[in-house]
Amino acid sequence: MIDFKSLRNDFPMLRNGIKMQGKPLVWLDNASTTFKPDCVLDAISNYYTHETSNSHRGDYDLCYNMDQKIAEARNTLAKLLNAESKEIVFTAGTTMSINLVAFGYGAKFLKEGDEILLTEAEHASNVLPWYKVCEMTGAVTKFIPLTKEGRLTAENLEKTIGPKTKIVAVAQVTNVLGYVTPIKELAAVAHKHGAILVVDGAQSAPHMKIDVKDLDCDFLSMSGHKMCGPTGIGVLYGKYDLLQKTDPFMTGGGMNARFNMCGKATYLDAPVKFEGGTVNLEGIIGLDAAVKYIMNIGLENINAHEEELKKYAVEQLEKTGNVTIYNKDSEAGIVTFNINGVFAQDGATFLNSKGIACRSGNHCAKILNDFLGTPATIRASFYFYTTKEDIDVLVDAVKHAKEEFLDAYF
Ligand SMILES: Cc1ncc(COP(=O)(O)O)c(C=O)c1O
Repeated sequence: MIDFKSLRNDFPMLRNGIKMQGKPLVWLDNASTTFKPDCVLDAISNYYTHETSNSHRGDYDLCYNMDQKIAEARNTLAKLLNAESKEIVFTAGTTMSINLVAFGYGAKFLKEGDEILLTEAEHASNVLPWYKVCEMTGAVTKFIPLTKEGRLTAENLEKTIGPKTKIVAVAQVTNVLGYVTPIKELAAVAHKHGAILVVDGAQSAPHMKIDVKDLDCDFLSMSGHKMCGPTGIGVLYGKYDLLQKTDPFMTGGGMNARFNMCGKATYLDAPVKFEGGTVNLEGIIGLDAAVKYIMNIGLENINAHEEELKKYAVEQLEKTGNVTIYNKDSEAGIVTFNINGVFAQDGATFLNSKGIACRSGNHCAKILNDFLGTPATIRASFYFYTTKEDIDVLVDAVKHAKEEFLDAYF
């Protein structure tokens, strides 16, 4: 049994009495970014204070040590996803990973009239790169209908997919509604029709066990900062044969085998051919520490804890009678709601006055507004260090929103 509360002591942001608006900080914006434990901060600090060097560029011990650290981090990430280490590409985060697939694979293989299937629930990072690739190639995007609840099902994919579909690109957990997408079933449908499945794992990798071999997805992207790691580092997983076929979309030092004065260049094999220039060494080292830390807690434990928090939050918020919740039944630790009669951003500003950090707006999923029937929502999102007491503070604020805020608002 994990004592989740005691894990809060590992996080300076949680144990140092940080305040917002003079109130103890209640951090409920974990879908946006997460706090960093000491082991991550120490690993980064150790790199700068004792081990600074570049990688792959020197025949001396410090540089060799850095090469070892990168290899170790690749192994850690491979273990996390049940992948091969050569299938792990270090990127700046989910956004860069999806762009890499869009421009390195999509722009190379898509032709006029080919289809890319998305959903209305996707984050901008999993829509806009595909729009850009469509402009370049003449391919088109199509949207797989969601169920009334907002879920993506294999059945709806089957109804939408056709002979021209080459890519299906969807989130494993959507960032507004928090539904878990049946990736394994979607992969089977996509493959039956000769398409590849590109998975946005930004909101799933930090919270649930992922086995890319079992899911049989073709690419999967994730961001370090959403899983206790540093900003500016992330991963693209790709099946190795697909990575080999994908072009690098950034060229430079470290990723080439040779080049000459006739404009000819040959590149190294994946994953290194995607990691041109000096890589984000502090990010890789920090991410390695973060992933080891959360694997030690156990992704299954994290998932179960967050499901419990989600249920508790929905129950307690509903009891206030003051809210509309848009995703009562979703699995992830995300509650998307509005305080009745209050515009979301005003609601979030009111919560801020109570020391509560929640995201408001459209959460970068701008096409979903029509589906939700509201221009903006408040999103409270949890991680394993979130407590029921944090949720109680939110619920209490929502309960008193009417007296404290609405009078002034109208
Ligand atoms: C579902 C989803 N995809 C992609 C992203 C983009 O992640 P990043 O900004 O770390 O690249 C996010 C960030 O919130 C997200 O929630």
